Amino acid sequence: MAEGFIPVCEPFLDGNEKKYLLEAIETGWISSAGKYISLFEESFAKYCGVKHGIAVCNGTVALHLSLVTLGINEGDEVIIPNFTMIASAFAVCYTGATPVFVDAEKETWNIDSSKIEEKITKRTKAIMPVHIYGHPCDMTPILNIAKKYHLKVIEDAAEVHGATYKGQKCGSIGDIAAFSFFSNKIATTGEGGMVVTNDDALAEKCRYFKNLCFPLTGQRTYTHDDIGFNYRMSNLHAAVGFAQVERIEEYVDIRRKHNAIYKEVLGDISGITFQPEKTWAKNVYWMNGIVVEKNKFGMSRDELMKKLREKGIDSRLFFSGMHRQGGLQKFGCDCRGEYPVTDWLAENGLYLPSGSGLKEEQIEFICKTIRSLKA
Ligand SMILES: Cc1ncc(COP(=O)(O)O)c(C=O)c1O
Repeated sequence: MAEGFIPVCEPFLDGNEKKYLLEAIETGWISSAGKYISLFEESFAKYCGVKHGIAVCNGTVALHLSLVTLGINEGDEVIIPNFTMIASAFAVCYTGATPVFVDAEKETWNIDSSKIEEKITKRTKAIMPVHIYGHPCDMTPILNIAKKYHLKVIEDAAEVHGATYKGQKCGSIGDIAAFSFFSNKIATTGEGGMVVTNDDALAEKCRYFKNLCFPLTGQRTYTHDDIGFNYRMSNLHAAVGFAQVERIEEYVDIRRKHNAIYKEVLGDISGITFQPEKTWAKNVYWMNGIVVEKNKFGMSRDELMKKLREKGIDSRLFFSGMHRQGGLQKFGCDCRGEYPVTDWLAENGLYLPSGSGLKEEQIEFICKTIRSLKA
C-alpha cells in the first residue's frame, strides 16, 4: 500500500488472534472440529442475546442456510430491500425462490416498510430486512406485517454487529439472522459467517444442513436423507473470530467515535448527508456513508471520489439497486418499476474510510480535504 494512502477499511487484529490461531495450528485442530468453533459460536450468540450461533464459511451461505432451514423453496417469494448488497438477493435465488424488491426509505436508507404490503402475493413466504451500513431497520412494522401474513423474518445482519433496535440487538429480533465476518466487518474471521437464532429446532436444522446432512447424533452410516451443504467454518477462522468477539464492544465504540468526528466536522456542510441514528436505534456505523448532492455541494459524488483519491483517500460507491442487476433479471426477477430512493442512493452515495484502525488524525485529514473541496 502506498505510504500515506488511507484505505476504505482494513481489518483490526490487535488482540489474541495470533495466539489462538497458533494454538489451533499447534494442536492440529485446523478443520471444523476444535474448541474455537464452540467458543466463537457461544460468545457471539451471547453477545447478540440469542440462544444459538452456528458458524459457517461466509455471510452469503449464512443467509442461504437460514432460508433453507425455514423451508424456503422453488416457487416461493422473499421480500428484500432493493438497496442492498447482492448477496441478500443471491441467497434467495440459491433456494429457487424469487427475491421481490422494495425501495429504501430516504432517511435511514433501509427498507421502506410502508411499501412492503403492496408486494405481498400468495407466494410470499418471508421478509428479509437488511440493516444497512450499521443502522437497524424499523423492525416493529416489519414484524407486524409478517404476523398478519404469516411470513418468516430473516434478518440480514451482515453489517451490524452490535447494533440495537429499541434496545434489542440486531440479529435477535426476527426468526433467524445471518452475520458476515468478511475482512471489512466490525468483527472478522477473514472469510466467515454465522447464523443466529433463539429457535432450538431451526438451530438444529442449520447444524444438520451445514454439514452435508450428516446425522447430528449416533453412528455415521454414510446414508443421507436430504441434500446438504458443506458450509462449515474451520477452527482456524473461529480462533480469530473468538479473539475478535473478546474485543467487539471496543470495536463498536471506535466505529461510533469515528462517526462522531466525521459528523462534527462535516455535519454542517450543505450537500453532504450522513446516515442518521434514529432515537430507537444504535447505529454501529460499519461504514461512514454520505450522500453528495451536486447542486448543494458544488461537486458530484464521482468528482469528489476522484479528488479524494488524488489526495490518497480511498472511498467506495454505494450499492447499486437490485432492479439494475442483469443476473437477477436473467434469473426471472421482476426488475420493472421505479425505485427512486435506491437510484438516488446509488447515484450519489459513497462511503469514506471507516476501519477501526483509522487514526483520528487521518479522519481529520479526510474531513479537512472534503471541506476544502466544497465550492
Ligand atoms: C448486507 C450484506 N449481506 C450479505 C453479505 C455477504 O457476506 P459475505 O461477504 O461474508 O458472504 C454482505 C457482505 O458484505 C452484506 O453486506
